[in-house]
Amino acid sequence: MSKILFATSEAYPLIKTGGLADVSGSLPRALVSQKQDVRLILPAYADVMEKVGSCKTIASQVVDGLTVNILETRLPGTKVKTWLVDCPEYFDRPGNPYLDEHNEDWHDNAERFTLFCRVVVAVALNQLELNWQPDLVHCNDWQTGLVPALLDEAPQRPATLFTIHNMAYQGLFPFDTFAKLSLPDHFWHHETLEFHDYFSFMKGGLVYADSINAVSPTYAEEIKTPEFGYGLDGLLRYRQSVVSGILNGIDTTEWNPGTDKYLVQTYNRRTLSKKQINKAALQQHFSLPAEPDTLLLGFIGRLVEQKGVDDILQALPALMELPIQIAILGSGQPYYEQDFLDWAQRHPQKIAITVGYDEALAHQIEAGSDAFLMPSRFEPCGLNQLYSLRYGTLPVVRDVGGLKDTVTDSQVETLENNSATGIVFSKDETLVEAIQRLLTLYKDTPKWKQVQHNAMQQDNSWSHRACAYIELYEQTTGRNPRPVKNA
Ligand code: ADP
Ligand code: GLC
Repeated sequence: MSKILFATSEAYPLIKTGGLADVSGSLPRALVSQKQDVRLILPAYADVMEKVGSCKTIASQVVDGLTVNILETRLPGTKVKTWLVDCPEYFDRPGNPYLDEHNEDWHDNAERFTLFCRVVVAVALNQLELNWQPDLVHCNDWQTGLVPALLDEAPQRPATLFTIHNMAYQGLFPFDTFAKLSLPDHFWHHETLEFHDYFSFMKGGLVYADSINAVSPTYAEEIKTPEFGYGLDGLLRYRQSVVSGILNGIDTTEWNPGTDKYLVQTYNRRTLSKKQINKAALQQHFSLPAEPDTLLLGFIGRLVEQKGVDDILQALPALMELPIQIAILGSGQPYYEQDFLDWAQRHPQKIAITVGYDEALAHQIEAGSDAFLMPSRFEPCGLNQLYSLRYGTLPVVRDVGGLKDTVTDSQVETLENNSATGIVFSKDETLVEAIQRLLTLYKDTPKWKQVQHNAMQQDNSWSHRACAYIELYEQTTGRNPRPVKNA
């Protein structure tokens, strides 16, 4: 049994802005069910405190001149012991963990996440008398990037794994900010955390962690190339002997069409025809014509370039000519939101959008759509296509990252051997052509049903993938040059 400190800036259901929360809420649970001794650690944001109510203070420390309490609770609905880093000056703020009410980064994000990392390090080094010391700290994304770097300063330390969920967000700050953080001077060097005159939190993970992994095998390869590496591909090639890829799993309790509490009608593989009831409800919700036979495409996600939103917008004139409907849920760049709102106003029979964040509606779109649109430009793993597969909602995806690793294109051979699960398009095909191919498949009802069955049968649970993490934890502790004695 390993002792794992799992550090993250968000975890569902306590706080969520995207897939990182889904993973941080479900992987620790899967690890605990495989007998690992896991503690989840995250900031005690206002929204988190509202969800957990009162909890026990188990340690206090002054960090960067501020009093920090460690609060103990359990991740709701699980046995996962959860430690909340309570520093009201930095975390007792409403709304988004990273953005203020004007959708701008909090002005003190560098200070906030430096403090968070310092506390994680203090826990990892057993300096808070919690009577528990991890063998390994599992860090996730830039907000935890300083942990491996700071731990490297210690004479003995737990091993460190840095998981890349998205290379596009690196936590870059100017020198002036770095100068205020009271970090070791040698962190400002191009071989350490300096990156083209900026201070990079992510480099802390990439340079110092004993192991690095990305959330899919294909993305682990892609980030070693200039096209996907955001300037860090050289560093990742340099460290490639410790870089690997493990696909994300999904919480199969939360995302289960057979029991989903948000649906008007639950269904499973054997009662797939009941999915139609969810489609009718979704059409009604979005005021789209109640046409049971018209192909309904769903989209859920952040309205940002990563998600291929440009491509969808460019395809819309052609798509409006096809016998399809489109239901969108998302928020992000205001100009994308506005573009979709305009299209929806002009073509209310064909396209509708809800701007915002809505957990229940996300489940209803997964269940009520026939197919799911996810033409991301890059996708480290992607969870929505995994939810879609489970809900018999065929994903239409670009052949990148985790999308490529989890969806099998419908071609003569894959249809024959029952491995087809959706539509995967590459550079040789446009999004419109991919959707035309989808429509052809949709018209062939027996084939369509077979592909739905194939999709719903695919195992995207955590069980195997959590084992892959446990193996990686073992390898990583083996790589630690200065392990803690008697850990
Ligand atoms: P990313 O983390 O890049 O945003 P993922 O596909 O890994 O993409 O995960 C996104 C998660 O956030 C999914 O659980 C998805 O359902 C959810 N999500 C994204 N946008 C919304 C929204 N507007 N409303 C509700 N859920 C959303
Ligand atoms: C990121 C990625 C997404 C991935 C998620 C969880 O936000 O964009 O592809 O699924 O993290 O790992």
